[in-house]
Amino acid sequence: MIDEHDREAWLKGGDALCATLPAPPTHIYRLILLGAPGVGKGTQAELLWEKLGACHLSTGDVFRAAKALPKERLSPAMQTALSFMSRGELVQDETVLAMVRERARCLRCRGGFLLDGFPRTVVQAEALESLLKWERCALTAVVNYDLPVDVIVARLSGRRTCPGCKAVYHEKTRPPRTPGVCDACGEKLMQREDDRAESVRVRMSAYQRSTKPLIDFYEQRGLLVTVAAEGSPEEICQRTLAALNAR
Ligand code: AP5
Repeated sequence: MIDEHDREAWLKGGDALCATLPAPPTHIYRLILLGAPGVGKGTQAELLWEKLGACHLSTGDVFRAAKALPKERLSPAMQTALSFMSRGELVQDETVLAMVRERARCLRCRGGFLLDGFPRTVVQAEALESLLKWERCALTAVVNYDLPVDVIVARLSGRRTCPGCKAVYHEKTRPPRTPGVCDACGEKLMQREDDRAESVRVRMSAYQRSTKPLIDFYEQRGLLVTVAAEGSPEEICQRTLAALNAR
């Protein structure tokens, strides 16, 4: 079966290649999706991938894919990264940057990209700026999703994910057809370890401290587009497309 949303090269890194290349779109979008944990970046990335053809590049997904491997196959740096992640803390910049640099060819992909969860600190944003300059790829825009904290916490506490195909559900707002079972591949749905209340608190404060300053960083570069993340995922997606078209 052809997976139209193939992203092996991103998830595995190294020599891994995507079996299917995206069709060249009429316009290449290279976007960063910014916003607090649980605001809906991953959900929007999937919808925007359908509409714009740009590939969903999530650093969190790379860490979760590594977590599924036997411990002996993980480098010491990755083992440390996963322990930070399970506590809800940010992984050290050098580990994240080494991981992204190893996958730099995904930034040159002819379909474009939707970066989700990266950059997350000013150090990462500056490094990405240099990397994109080196790769001769310019960012189209940085979409900043905005939502009140109480709604975000409700989204995170009800989130369930598929360990197989990575599909994301919500107990109330996006339930699977059969409770606890993935519609797409039939695997048993799980709650993410870092969606426990204690880790969510740590993630929110890491966002306030380290990631929120990126709003000013990209505003100063004339790239920021702020989109209200209220309403259904489809409504938010339409709002995002309208905001991008209005630029
Ligand atoms: P990461 O995987 O990037 O997680 P995150 O940024 O915390 O974001 P989430 O995936 O939690 O939320 P989301 O905004 O994608 O929301 P979603 O669409 O799922 O990172 C995880 C960890 O990895 C970090 O904490 C860190 O440790 C590490 N890490 C990763 N990148 C790093 C980096 N660059 N530097 C350092 N460390 C890094 O939606 C949430 C829920 O809401 C779902 O259930 C969904 O169905 C539901 N929902 C979505 N939209 C709607 C809607 N419109 N209405 C109702 N429900 C909705």
